[in-house]
Amino acid sequence: MRYIMFLLFFLSLIEPLHADYRDLFQRQFIDKPWGGAPIVREGVCIDCHTSKIMKADYLKIPQEWKMSIHYKNKVSCHDCHGGDPDDAAVSCGTPHSGFVGTPKYKDVPELCGKCHVGILKNYLTSGHGKALKSRGEGPNCVTCHGAHNTQKASIEIINDVRCTKCHTYERARTMKQALFVVEKKITELENQLTDMKKSGAITEDIEKALFRTTAEFRTIFHTVDVNLVKAKTGEYSSKLSLIENDLKKIIEEYQFRRNFSAFLLVLFTIMGILVYINQKK
Ligand code: HEC
Ligand code: HEC
Ligand code: HEC
Ligand code: HEC
Ligand code: HEC
Repeated sequence: MRYIMFLLFFLSLIEPLHADYRDLFQRQFIDKPWGGAPIVREGVCIDCHTSKIMKADYLKIPQEWKMSIHYKNKVSCHDCHGGDPDDAAVSCGTPHSGFVGTPKYKDVPELCGKCHVGILKNYLTSGHGKALKSRGEGPNCVTCHGAHNTQKASIEIINDVRCTKCHTYERARTMKQALFVVEKKITELENQLTDMKKSGAITEDIEKALFRTTAEFRTIFHTVDVNLVKAKTGEYSSKLSLIENDLKKIIEEYQFRRNFSAFLLVLFTIMGILVYINQKK
């Protein structure tokens, strides 16, 4: 009997392993073309593009790329530019398998949108997308995210240097203020989750929900439709409140479980002492 209780006690301490849900979800969310194969050998593109024959301003490109979120996520030169990274005969002067070279300013959205499907959709229907397609004006993805030094996106991208190149800052400011409320809540929830995870609570479902909600929310900016963004901010605030409530429940359950484990520990210690005293008699 005693052994069974000890076994139960230890079982109560064990947590299931976390699957890499983020990875799984991203593959679903950003669609297939990117295979996510590990960049073990980096291929002929990088060999040659970091060699002496490259001109100085092109040499910066692989360096920038190595600092980017794309490098971290195994998106390599050929994923954007095409061409075969295993074909030593590749040379950029001559056409070869699927090489698209440098996209034209107007064609950049489709290149990025091959993977960022939801964002491309919103962008194309936006004032920006329409201005780009009809008049070659309007910012493309690279204007706001860069091509090779792409970093994690945030509302800091909206600032009065970048957004006043083509028009006044007024509408951009309103947009940023609307996004801020939701972004603040996302940060708070993310921090709480990190704390919970550190103490070993099971938060996987909540993490998934939060990640999905955040990713969806962040496509909305690309409509650059101030009224829509304001409306959606309300909707996403309530979605996040639901997630917050679930998180609170988990925190309570976790605390209960921890207290119960502590209780068992005390109980077993006392039992141990009693058994010891008993044997001494
Ligand atoms: C996320 C997609 C993406 C990745 C990854 C990427 N590029 Fe590019 N690259 C672009 C886009 C878009 C442009 C054109 C826009 C621009 O820079 O103005 C471009 C432009 C270039 C140019 C022309 C620059 C110029 O000034 O004319 C070169 C050369 C180049 N890339 C090489 C590379 C190499 C080498 C790698 C791998 C180390 C790489 N790229 C990775 C998207 C990418
Ligand atoms: C043997 C060397 C070599 C290899 C291999 C190579 N490149 Fe290049 N690449 C060059 C040189 C040299 C230039 C500059 C040409 C110029 O001066 O316009 C260049 C230019 C480029 C450009 C910008 C000009 C354009 O055609 O649009 C891109 C983009 C590019 N390379 C991508 C790639 C990718 C992707 C791969 C791998 C699939 C690759 N390169 C493999 C040597 C190479
Ligand atoms: C081959 C697929 C692919 C292409 C093409 C691609 N990306 Fe990405 N991108 C990814 C992956 C994978 C990630 C990392 C997962 C994530 O955070 O969404 C990422 C992340 C990003 C992020 C950061 C997202 C965040 O979490 O904050 C930005 C911004 C971005 N990409 C912009 C671009 C731009 C701009 C282009 C075109 C120049 C582009 N991407 C082309 C696959 C791609
Ligand atoms: C390369 C030029 C360019 C840059 C840079 C630029 N915009 Fe625009 N923007 C346009 C054009 C063109 C339009 C469409 C004409 C208009 O409504 O003024 C537009 C329209 C808008 C609109 C109104 C859209 C609508 O349908 O009512 C908003 C909001 C906006 N931009 C926000 C931003 C923000 C935020 C930034 C910075 C992150 C930015 N813009 C950077 C060119 C630009
Ligand atoms: C006018 C500037 C601007 C343009 C143009 C633009 N973006 Fe963004 N992008 C942003 C801002 C600002 C955010 C952050 C929004 C937020 O935090 O709510 C963002 C967020 C993102 C994210 C992160 C989404 C996430 O899940 O965290 C990706 C990926 C992205 N953009 C890709 C693209 C692609 C692809 C294009 C072209 C089709 C593009 N962007 C065009 C400004 C821009």
